[in-house]
Amino acid sequence: MRGEAVRRTGTSDRGVSRAGRKSGDAGIAHVLNACDPNVLRPFASGKRILVGVTGGIAAYKTCTIVSRLAQAGANVTVAMTEAATHFVTALTFQSLSGAPVYTSAWEHIESKDPQHIALAKGLDLAIVAPATMDCLAKLATGRTDDVVTLILSAVDRHKTPVVLAPAMNDVMWSQPSTQRNVKQLVEDGFYLIGPGEGWQACRTVGTGRMSEPEEILGAIGQFLDRPKAKSGKK
Ligand SMILES: Cc1cc2nc3c(=O)[nH]c(=O)nc-3n(C[C@H](O)[C@H](O)[C@H](O)COP(=O)(O)O)c2cc1C
Repeated sequence: MRGEAVRRTGTSDRGVSRAGRKSGDAGIAHVLNACDPNVLRPFASGKRILVGVTGGIAAYKTCTIVSRLAQAGANVTVAMTEAATHFVTALTFQSLSGAPVYTSAWEHIESKDPQHIALAKGLDLAIVAPATMDCLAKLATGRTDDVVTLILSAVDRHKTPVVLAPAMNDVMWSQPSTQRNVKQLVEDGFYLIGPGEGWQACRTVGTGRMSEPEEILGAIGQFLDRPKAKSGKK
């Protein structure tokens, strides 16, 4: 599945499903189950997961993702851009994850490695939710001037899946620059989940809405269930 958008993989036992499914679909029970920490626990317990949060209104949904992962026994580290802190406080994520939240590259220097290198080492999975238009552009062009993109720059994607959950207004999503960046990111080995279609914070209906927490948790469970790739540098 490397290099493909997660949203194109369809429904599976672990709750990854297409956005826009109809209620009554057989897959819905799995999608709902993915939000149940007991269902996630066998995949997530003891796993090191980085959750990057960038500056979109959908950051409120990421609270559910972090909470469920923590309840399932994962060691969740949250990193936030400055813009993200305008939507949800670091304290909220600290309370939900039970761990320090990183909002700057210049704090919590607690090991011999620079913070971003130490945080990137040994991760089982990294996810950015929501991933803004700006974040997609930075990742597609190798820019690292915030703590989220800086940590991700040190993640070896041959060993650790990096999943992006874009969220933005439908015009922002359909901009040629965004579409170019998405294509580049998929080519570079990032995974994308969503965006879905539906009601947006700008009070229109369109494509660009972040996938629901259940769907994202289902995808995370599916990635964690796969054997870890051994290629790449130790
Ligand atoms: C109220 C408000 C809501 C926003 N929502 C989004 C959004 O959903 N998606 C997005 O890509 N940008 C959104 N933006 C713009 C980003 O916050 C802005 O581009 C910011 O620089 C992103 O920084 P970051 O990528 O470092 O987090 C929003 C801005 C405001 C003021």
